[in-house]
Amino acid sequence: MRNLTSIVSYPERGEGGSNRYRGNCSPKLIEDLIGFFKPHEICDYMCGSGTTKAAAEACGIGSHLYDLHSGFDLMSCEIPERPEFIFWHPPYWDIILYSDIMYKASDVEKRYGFDPRLADLSRIKDWDRFVEAMNYAMMKQFTALERGGRMAVLMGDIKKRGRLYSMVSEIVKPGTLENIVIKAQHNCFSDRTQYSGSFIPILHEYVMIVRKDAALMIPILSTKRSEVDIRDMRGATWRDIVAAIFEESGNALALEEIYAMLQDHKRAKESRFWREKVRQTLHLYPQVFEQNERGRWRLRKVR
Ligand SMILES: C[S@@+](CC[C@H](N)C(=O)[O-])C[C@H]1O[C@@H](n2cnc3c(N)ncnc32)[C@H](O)[C@@H]1O
Repeated sequence: MRNLTSIVSYPERGEGGSNRYRGNCSPKLIEDLIGFFKPHEICDYMCGSGTTKAAAEACGIGSHLYDLHSGFDLMSCEIPERPEFIFWHPPYWDIILYSDIMYKASDVEKRYGFDPRLADLSRIKDWDRFVEAMNYAMMKQFTALERGGRMAVLMGDIKKRGRLYSMVSEIVKPGTLENIVIKAQHNCFSDRTQYSGSFIPILHEYVMIVRKDAALMIPILSTKRSEVDIRDMRGATWRDIVAAIFEESGNALALEEIYAMLQDHKRAKESRFWREKVRQTLHLYPQVFEQNERGRWRLRKVR
């Protein structure tokens, strides 16, 4: 058994599960998690090719495995166990499609009576909806854990059109966050990256480990996307507020026009002398602001 540390790397995948099942993981990772946390059993509700079962067998413990391909939809089916340890390896958003690609949707429909494409997380087109579904599945599994139980979640980052879609950043983190392990990626980072322009190739993924210490009251850490107007922000300096007003307008501005873009905002309302503050700021930073020949103010071009 290898030692589990905060960085893991398995250049050789190892035996168990199938390396032909796209997005499969190394059984060595799961063996190391079992070796470290020593659960009596392990559950996997998105088991893919069954890597978790092979790892459990190698470690001499029991396992319970499910997947959409065998008629189990984590979003709508009841979790049969009260698990002590869950390994969860959700799809990398829509980068690798599962239903009707790795298995035939019609076979699942014939055997289990539902179209797996409608429940498949990898078929959710919109990132925010994917995050919502991922977080629903995360909380559902976490609440099924017995007290003292753990979840290890293997996730990656996705880069599309210059933006990073980071599963580990946006996933809800219930319970006690115990570890975030970096797992080196071998051979397939390009699968996750839609190249456009310059990018930093992604060569790692994450294993997040959370522990359930309490039964009823569960702390959660979750992200929320919102916007702030820096004209309302305490921490913004006058220099940055005035510079941002020029950037937003794209023009040289007369003092009255700068005032008009500020007057309804908190920073102006907070001080009787905000107009004086604007004028003082324009004069205080000649390396940032300048006046044109018509006496209007603008940002000084440095590049
Ligand atoms: C990244 S793969 C897991 C790979 C696995 N760890 C292995 O080594 O083979 C993700 C799996 O999630 C399954 N899945 C997607 N949506 C699901 C859902 N709603 N319920 C259950 N399984 C789902 C897919 O069928 C796919 O097998």
